[in-house]
Amino acid sequence: MHPFKPVDHACLPQLPEWKAYTEAVQVAPFRTDALHLVEAAGLTIDLSAQVDSPATRQAADALLRVRGFNLARKALLAGEHVNLTEDRAAWHTMLRAPQPIKAVAREHRRVRDFVQDADAQAKWKTVIHIGIGGSDWGVRLATDACAGSGARRLLKFVANIDGHAIEDAILGMDPRETLIVVTSKSFTTTETLANLRRAVRWLTDAGVDEPYEQVVAITARPAAAAKLGVPDRQIFEFWDWVGGRYSLWSAVGLPVALAVGLEVIEGIRAGAAAMDAHFAEADIADNAPVQLALAGIANRSVLGYGSLSIAAYDARLQYLAPYLQQLDMESLGKSVDLAGRPVGVPTGPSVWGMPGTDGQHTFFQWLHQGTDGAAVDFIMCREADHQWVEEHAMLLANCLAQRQTLLRGTSFEADRDALLAQGMHEDDAHWLARHRQHQGGRPSTLIVLPRLTPYALGALLALYEHKIFVQALVWGINPFDQWGVEAGKKMASGILQELHGEPQAPTHDLSTRHWISLLAEDRQDR
Ligand code: F6P
Repeated sequence: MHPFKPVDHACLPQLPEWKAYTEAVQVAPFRTDALHLVEAAGLTIDLSAQVDSPATRQAADALLRVRGFNLARKALLAGEHVNLTEDRAAWHTMLRAPQPIKAVAREHRRVRDFVQDADAQAKWKTVIHIGIGGSDWGVRLATDACAGSGARRLLKFVANIDGHAIEDAILGMDPRETLIVVTSKSFTTTETLANLRRAVRWLTDAGVDEPYEQVVAITARPAAAAKLGVPDRQIFEFWDWVGGRYSLWSAVGLPVALAVGLEVIEGIRAGAAAMDAHFAEADIADNAPVQLALAGIANRSVLGYGSLSIAAYDARLQYLAPYLQQLDMESLGKSVDLAGRPVGVPTGPSVWGMPGTDGQHTFFQWLHQGTDGAAVDFIMCREADHQWVEEHAMLLANCLAQRQTLLRGTSFEADRDALLAQGMHEDDAHWLARHRQHQGGRPSTLIVLPRLTPYALGALLALYEHKIFVQALVWGINPFDQWGVEAGKKMASGILQELHGEPQAPTHDLSTRHWISLLAEDRQDR
């Protein structure tokens, strides 16, 4: 049986193994007296605050077996065409392999030579990075998280088509000292091409004769970049078999190296490669991505948690939530299985979050006492890179406290008695204690990094990539396509024409029709 032949995949709800798994999860306890730790690539994944029992583990093994986990894992890591709807491999692991294929080694070498040359000649004080989605979040995350290595150049980001974004990026920049790096797998993304045009215009308006001498392109469509005028020596390639949201490991990392050093992108790749080796070899019970995936499936498809909150207790990880939002939601936001049938169970959760302790003062009220709640991934680093030991202890104490309170809740009786002890009237104490009570029994995972190094960051991101792959396998969906993003883009280009005065499409709803007319008039009045 080949796991990627759609016909072989039974519809999940009909699988006896799925039924057994859901039944086991529904009765599995939260154990406050048991430790469930998995070590991987220097990280510790603590799943003790997730439901767990011998029955859930047994049922999970059977479920993964019937879904062909071992074959599927092999196929992914071997570069087989696991992305069925686009008939491509999803071989991001090859980008960080210790012995990569020639093409990958060549592009890594070219990136290294380009950065070392720029450093040696002290070229480019500032870099403006233009790209969106998978061609943006990874670069922001890595640069921000690993800035401790010392910034070599100022890196500014432009993603949105909103002119305020590029206006802000070029503000105060010296056009002659600025390198434009444009990243786009498809080299067709409207926002990115429009922002590139604006940036090139900024250079020429400043008197730069050959603006494309100051442009680097990173893309899976090198011919399109060359056609635009980017010199071949400044075009860096990645390939169709790399998903945009899985592309940080490729030449997409070049602006990170320009900003904070080559050792950062090489460290990130090394950490991810270590997680790949763990994923490839570890048994199910000790396999961190698999265990994290199973906890997520239990929370989403059985226990009914519609969302996953990412609570990274490190201010340098402010871009982790948006990075994982794209990675997780663009991969798992699917309701049709590989055979084209409705999946029949809830799939990818909504992913959101904010660094701790900011999140505590923003939405933890909802996490603790809201009707829905969410599963939470807490992430913390044992060691900080600043000198203030006490502040770090306070940060970690808050992380552990929030996690335990979600799990254990608070006792109504203890609260009521405390209020009575303060002299409150019995009825009032009873009433108020109800408002203050935490129900508990809210699941979370704690992921512990020794320190926030490029290596640990790489391992963390690869952990999530493989978690997502395992969840997609169980749900029977393709995590590597994103057909759902196309319709809106197509509609936008049509509406843009209509704002320019082209006749409106007869299919518009009345409200859309109304606003197009008004906005088109606004443009004419200008
Ligand atoms: O619209 C979604 C998407 O296609 C993402 O998958 C991708 O990361 C992003 O847009 C940018 O695409 P590109 O790198 O081709 O410009």
